[in-house]
Amino acid sequence: MDETSQSMELLLTVTRQGDRTLGTQIETQVRDAVRDGRLRAGARVPSTRDLARQLGVSRRVVVGAYAQLAAEGYLTLRQGARPSVADTVQAPAHPVPSAPTPARTPRFDLRPRAPDVSRFPRAQWLRCLRDALRNMTNADLGYGDPRGTEALRSALADYLGRVRGVVTVPGRVVVTNGYSQGQGIVCRALVDSGVRRIGFENPSHPEQRRVAEAAGLRVVPVAVDECGIRVDALDRADVDAVVLTPAHQHPTGAVLTGARRRDLLAWLRRRDAIAIEDDYDAEYRYDRAAVGALQGLDPDRVIYAGSASKTLAPALRLGWLVVPGRLLAAVTDHKDLADCGTAGIEQHAFATFLSRGELDRHLRRMRIRYRRRRDLLLRTLAEALPEATARGIAAGLHATVELPDGYDEEAILRQARQRGVDLMTTHDFWIPPGSGRPTLLLGYGQVPLPAVPEAIRVVADAVRSGRAG
Ligand SMILES: Cc1ncc(COP(=O)(O)O)c(C=O)c1O
Repeated sequence: MDETSQSMELLLTVTRQGDRTLGTQIETQVRDAVRDGRLRAGARVPSTRDLARQLGVSRRVVVGAYAQLAAEGYLTLRQGARPSVADTVQAPAHPVPSAPTPARTPRFDLRPRAPDVSRFPRAQWLRCLRDALRNMTNADLGYGDPRGTEALRSALADYLGRVRGVVTVPGRVVVTNGYSQGQGIVCRALVDSGVRRIGFENPSHPEQRRVAEAAGLRVVPVAVDECGIRVDALDRADVDAVVLTPAHQHPTGAVLTGARRRDLLAWLRRRDAIAIEDDYDAEYRYDRAAVGALQGLDPDRVIYAGSASKTLAPALRLGWLVVPGRLLAAVTDHKDLADCGTAGIEQHAFATFLSRGELDRHLRRMRIRYRRRRDLLLRTLAEALPEATARGIAAGLHATVELPDGYDEEAILRQARQRGVDLMTTHDFWIPPGSGRPTLLLGYGQVPLPAVPEAIRVVADAVRSGRAG
């Protein structure tokens, strides 16, 4: 047997297989034991002679390893004294967290999060990735422009102009790691320009509010109704920027009406404020063509922000911004500071994917699927839970379902979980202490069509059992 393993207080193990030297193995294990607190400051460690004997290695190897650890400040070596862990070593304040327990897989996952990733166009993506890599020059493998590759910024400018009515040139497009990073760097650029307070729709996505707060902004709630964000409330909020979801308010499902759009644009001009348009799922409108992006109406005051997380897969971590000239340098600088630019090989693949029309084809297929799921979900719900009312437009990847007063969202969630169903309610999206009618958010991205009726019947059962009183 090649492996020498001796049990001692440190439980060191060395092997002669592999390419790491014996000395490196000893150093790594002692270092790890000190860092995670198994060996505390001042603790004695075996002499070089003892350890060499115990591990069956030459003493010279241990002397070298200990010298390295002493030079790094982990061990104290003194003539005639036993070596020990340096007094200056700081043990971790908290125990090292153990690996998270794997999440249980629900029978039906109705959380409005991911799209149907089982339909991710793997073959097409792989072809684009292979072609991108084949065609990329050596220079393309360097750092490049922090805004993103020219090829992707051009492809996005074309796509967004054609599909969303976004007014831009490739130079104003900044490729990001998903919407979330884009919003974060815009918030930091806004802070640089003196903005301190930012409005968020109430309800809205809590993670995105956290992103704004982490950038140093104070989040101010702005009420939403069936016409989208309330501009009168925005006017009173005393903010210089606002994040909103005009195409499909998240999570209520309202669309910002034409009149509200006009009021909002007038407010932006009056206040000389900036809007961040989160266009996260506008490609999915089932009853008519999607309304164009707000950005197209005032490209100098509206920052457009999109993402591949709902159209393709969150794992791509691809998003994009279209930035007004006055903020472009600051946004580019923050993107550069954050990560020197989004992964270039994926950007090239996505540029190819877009320019070959693969995204259009994928969306045409997925729109049909999601629409069928949504229709079946609402039909089943009308039969199984006639007291529920669907709110919002026929769009996106979830249905917003309002219940009459007297239903308890927490109890419904508990009952649903007991039946193997994960879903969400608007409770998770209110900015405290906001509240409204009990409302369920039923995502259909993860539930195949044949499973929809059973999933909804289980939800209806959970709702009845969760009724307050
Ligand atoms: C409202 C909203 N905006 C944007 C996103 C996309 O975020 P990201 O691109 O960072 O995955 C999501 C995803 O869940 C969302 O719910």
